[in-house]
Amino acid sequence: MAAIFSVLLIVLFISFSSFQASPTNSRLFREYIGAEDTGVTFSDVPVNQNIEVHYILSFAIDYTSSSKPSPTNGYFNVYWDTENLTPSAVSSFKAHHGNVKVAMSLGGDTINKQHVYFDPKSINSWVSNAIHSISDIASKYNLDGIDIDYEHFRTDPDTFAECIGKLLFYLKQQRIVSFASIAPYEDDSVQPYYLALWKKYGHLIDYVNFQFYAYPKGTNVSQFLKYFETQNSNYEGGKVLVSFGTDKSGGLSPKNGFFEACSNLRRMNKLNGIFIWSADDSKKDGFTYELQAQSFLADSK
Ligand SMILES: *[C@@H]1O[C@H](CO)[C@@H](O)[C@H](O)[C@H]1NC(C)=O
Repeated sequence: MAAIFSVLLIVLFISFSSFQASPTNSRLFREYIGAEDTGVTFSDVPVNQNIEVHYILSFAIDYTSSSKPSPTNGYFNVYWDTENLTPSAVSSFKAHHGNVKVAMSLGGDTINKQHVYFDPKSINSWVSNAIHSISDIASKYNLDGIDIDYEHFRTDPDTFAECIGKLLFYLKQQRIVSFASIAPYEDDSVQPYYLALWKKYGHLIDYVNFQFYAYPKGTNVSQFLKYFETQNSNYEGGKVLVSFGTDKSGGLSPKNGFFEACSNLRRMNKLNGIFIWSADDSKKDGFTYELQAQSFLADSK
């Protein structure tokens, strides 16, 4: 009874604090790193001292690490560039920058050129395996947060919501991670899963890394702002971050006015932060847009 009561208190406390989020602009910069084996390291990427910076290791996947990877029902393996993005690299990066936090993202689009599916055998078995393997990885790599980025599903939205919701609850309650985000995009095969999760467990989710770069190429500022409003109301009460890609993805590019759209949102006190996919792609261009995004955020009034 006492245990149930304290769990209830925690739930109430977390709901209370997340829905009391004040409507001010945030100086949060986030970026995915490690998915494409371009040799990007933590000493390559920019860190502006006057903002909060999250680098998100991509990806941990619940698939076997054989040449023909197959689902493991929640038993996660590390698939980011483990030669460069090691536990000691994470520790020294964080030791050098007090404003940096490091997270890991679960899932992703593909593994060995095949789709990664969310494919649990049952809710309880998936959650139990995930708790164990993720706790191990988080402690080995000294991680602060977790991001959910499944994009293909072999289950229904409610099962996804229950698995991820129970996992996030445990990881936060046990302080294995201190923040959580989700990375949905606008697609009928994806949004219902994240909306089901948001509806029941939104109080456990600190940021919505909405993949605005999954909208068509050539998106303009007014379309982008409309998309933002749509997603802001879908994930009501959440901190929806804006984003662009430095690969060949779509959406509103910096060249087409991404930062103009950000200024607009900032004037409306709706800028919750910026994230970029991905450091691996930006390495060859010297992180031009990361530097621009970070100084834009640092200039926040
Ligand atoms: C943005 O694109 C839409 C759809 O193509 C178009 O109707 C609108 O005029 C464009 N807005 C600007 C400012 O170019």
